[in-house]
Amino acid sequence: MASFGYRNGELYCEDMSAASLAQRFGTPLYVYARGALEQSFDRMAAAFAALSPKICFSIKSCSNLHVLRLLRQRGAAFDAVSIGEVRRAIEAGAPAADIVFAGVGKTRAEIDTALQLGVGCFNVESAEELAALRAAAAQAGLTVRAALRVNPDVDAHTHPYTTTGKDENKFGINLAAARDLFAAHRQDTHVRLTGIHLHIGSPVNTVEPYVETVGRALQLIDELAAQGVAIDLLNLGGGWGACYQDDDAPPIEAYADAIVPLLAGRNLDVHFEPGRSIAADAGVLLARVVYRKASRSRRFVIVDTAMTDLIRPALYDAYHFLWPVSPGAAFTPASRRADLDMPGLEAVDVVGPVCESSDFLAKQRCLPPLAPDDLLAVFSAGAYGFVMASQYNSRPRAAEVLVHRDEARLIRRRETYDDLVAAEREV
Ligand code: LLP
Repeated sequence: MASFGYRNGELYCEDMSAASLAQRFGTPLYVYARGALEQSFDRMAAAFAALSPKICFSIKSCSNLHVLRLLRQRGAAFDAVSIGEVRRAIEAGAPAADIVFAGVGKTRAEIDTALQLGVGCFNVESAEELAALRAAAAQAGLTVRAALRVNPDVDAHTHPYTTTGKDENKFGINLAAARDLFAAHRQDTHVRLTGIHLHIGSPVNTVEPYVETVGRALQLIDELAAQGVAIDLLNLGGGWGACYQDDDAPPIEAYADAIVPLLAGRNLDVHFEPGRSIAADAGVLLARVVYRKASRSRRFVIVDTAMTDLIRPALYDAYHFLWPVSPGAAFTPASRRADLDMPGLEAVDVVGPVCESSDFLAKQRCLPPLAPDDLLAVFSAGAYGFVMASQYNSRPRAAEVLVHRDEARLIRRRETYDDLVAAEREV
């Protein structure tokens, strides 16, 4: 990916050296490349152009206001799963009509607020939630558009914690129950339940589960049409993959080539909710080596970032390519694969300072020799990185920086001790 690459043995983000960013802003540091965010959005919009979809960036994947603002300027709508995310989208300049409000447990208070704010579409996940939405809309004297989240019972072949479209998952309702609910609600004056929402998992690194899912959705749409229930919206969720290794996910065009022909000519409003496929490859996490040590069986490299900054390895055993920021020309990596084979690499565990054995970024990873103060970059960290950060062990959260060509802008300052205790001091 062009936005992050090595030149003369030094990592660059666009035209800024990563080392200079670490020097200026400190570590741990999240660095996002504006070009990568814009290009992945534009490429996706082009790939699916035949469907004129609403591309609702999934705020949960990377919620910084400055990132949301620049995607908005590119034409993004937004997928929000809390009122906090709805408010972020509005603050980033989105009209409320361009926000879809999803989530399995929206409270009545959240529904009321979302109605007041005027969100464009509710993704409803149960009969009880639908009843709550009806009651709230009736009380407010409004008519809202809603999509029912259907659980298609399709295996997305991803981590069990990020699989969402199987019958045992908490999301949506099954096809038969959905059919009944659509039929029962066809006359409703306050909730126009004319959409189907699906999201089968994340990341989904093959196109087949989408083909299967769309097939089931179209069958449901046809059955409903035969009963006189018209569906005019299909939201296919997100889940498209990112480049954690070189070739683990197909390009966005491959998903589009499989999905577009199935939906073309169907006369449906199409919504997508991508997060990772836009943001993951647009961000890296920079860290500095603090110490090294060895046990009888392992060599450890202890860095100043932790599971509190990037929890994906601890939570899903997720793979993130990581590599020194200044490895020199001899150690410029040829790929992002774990099995890089170069003379002089040594297998190490890269771990953080948090008091948990799950606090690691990589295990038994072959890396060039590292010394204290060396900088490391953790790649593909732009999605589900900072947003999942915590203050566990009373660690202030990292700063975030946005790079555009040879300029870098702080888009979230590093937290301080005062931030950690502010809500406790107030009471
Ligand atoms: N729509 C819905 C309803 C979702 O639940 C999600 C993600 C998305 C869209 C966006 O999916 P994406 O395009 O970003 O794959 N924390 C995990 C991922 C959990 C995703 C949750 N839902 C991770 O670090 O991999």
